[in-house]
Amino acid sequence: MKVEKTNFEGIYLVNGKLATVNTVPGYRAFEEEIVKVGDVEYRIWSPYTSKPAAAIVKGLKVFPLREGMKVLYLGLAAGKTATYFSNIIGSKGIIFGVDIAERVLKDALEVAKKYKNIIPILADARRPETYERIVFCKVDFVYEDVASEDQVSILIKNCQKFLREGGHAAIAIKSQSISSTEDPKVVYKRCLNDLEKHFEVLDKVELDPYEKHHLFVVLQKKQ
Ligand SMILES: C[S@@+](CC[C@H](N)C(=O)[O-])C[C@H]1O[C@@H](n2cnc3c(N)ncnc32)[C@H](O)[C@@H]1O
Repeated sequence: MKVEKTNFEGIYLVNGKLATVNTVPGYRAFEEEIVKVGDVEYRIWSPYTSKPAAAIVKGLKVFPLREGMKVLYLGLAAGKTATYFSNIIGSKGIIFGVDIAERVLKDALEVAKKYKNIIPILADARRPETYERIVFCKVDFVYEDVASEDQVSILIKNCQKFLREGGHAAIAIKSQSISSTEDPKVVYKRCLNDLEKHFEVLDKVELDPYEKHHLFVVLQKKQ
């Protein structure tokens, strides 16, 4: 069994596959592959089912998640990707996870019973004022994966309210949700222009073939 560190905190290569350390040993929330090395359980992080993993496999150089960070996660769904973030930030960190769909949030609530640093919130990310009492602090990192037409403005609005100065954000832009008729590259360019008014773009990679028509962008809030 070969375990290697990557350039990213808390992310490993186990026999060449991306992985995080399972912080809830013995629990397997999403039928992910678990590899045990000595006393340590590694959770294989598939680029086919999680966009940050796809971005890293596609050559992303900057991924700013660190131990102890406070994270606002928009588009939590059942919490799959959030559990990998949870492994990376550890018990000193916290993830506020927002999703508009009650059905998936129910699944996320089950997952959060084990992953205690994830707080699922049923809300529309277009209306950050509805969860400002739950997200009680400024966060270090905002991640957005909502696949909606206004996904860029949703990210900007949430970062203005919750992201600390100099904090980081990442967004998975789905061109088909924004415009199904335009060339994805045209859509990406327009989104990047809007994002650059508020953030410095630190890195970006297209996620094809893992996720078609997606651009993953890492940002830092302008001071
Ligand atoms: C592609 S899925 C997210 C997958 C998840 N990020 C993961 O990797 O495990 C998109 C999610 O965004 C949610 N969503 C869409 N529009 C939203 C909005 N305005 N506010 C909050 N959540 C939204 C959907 O309900 C859906 O669960």
